Amino acid sequence: MDLQFKIFRFDPDVDSEPRFQDYTVTADPWERILDCLNRIKWEQDGTLGYRMSCGHGVCGSDAMKINGRCALACQRLVKDYQGTEVILEPLPTYKVIKDLIVDLDPFFEKVKAIRPYLIGSGSAPEKERLQGHEDNLKLNEVIRCILCACCTASCPVTSENEKFLGPAPLVWAFRYVFDTRDDQTSERLEQLDSPDGAWGCVNHFECTRVCPKEIPVTKSINTIKREIQKVLKRG
Ligand code: SF4
Ligand code: SF4
Ligand code: FES
Repeated sequence: MDLQFKIFRFDPDVDSEPRFQDYTVTADPWERILDCLNRIKWEQDGTLGYRMSCGHGVCGSDAMKINGRCALACQRLVKDYQGTEVILEPLPTYKVIKDLIVDLDPFFEKVKAIRPYLIGSGSAPEKERLQGHEDNLKLNEVIRCILCACCTASCPVTSENEKFLGPAPLVWAFRYVFDTRDDQTSERLEQLDSPDGAWGCVNHFECTRVCPKEIPVTKSINTIKREIQKVLKRG
């Protein structure tokens, strides 16, 4: 089948304004939108810029806006766009570097800010720090995060308040706040207890809707809010 694409093009070094460029790709219904992008790049227009790596929903690098909603191009099938034009745009909120490639440095800075690593007390054990099955189950959903930024780019609060941590860093914060091996729970909750932290979330649920790993993002943020109230005796 033939699929019509309308793809956002902008090279800030050359172009004064963004534009959309049309392409037609012949593809099998079970191929992915990423396969079509590769075919455009390899067979029609080598100047098209986008990121990709694993091709299997693991690396998170091919996140983009597909027909108005943030998603991974490797997780969208051609058959689902039969009879419709496919409009590809870069992730919103972030600065465009070229075409579908955005600058995710501000996103990763916020993830770094929540200290996304285990901070244990005492001297390091000889082997790994073990965790019980029940404790591990609490983290089962959030550890699926691949840092694709679909959630944060879609969050209306993030687009209005650049200081808001945003959903993905909050998901990573959850992962360490509720890790029973971590020794910084109160300090972590203090950091999240602000209008730019967990309280910045106003329950739009857009993050949850777009997450390609089906993580209950908003529910996790609300769980952090309750933990702040419980542990820090707020509210
Ligand atoms: S639920 Fe919270 S974090 Fe998610 S999109 Fe809405 S405001 Fe943003
Ligand atoms: S929570 Fe989901 S949408 Fe957000 S960065 Fe992680 S995998 Fe991507
Ligand atoms: S290319 Fe790695 S998630 Fe899509």
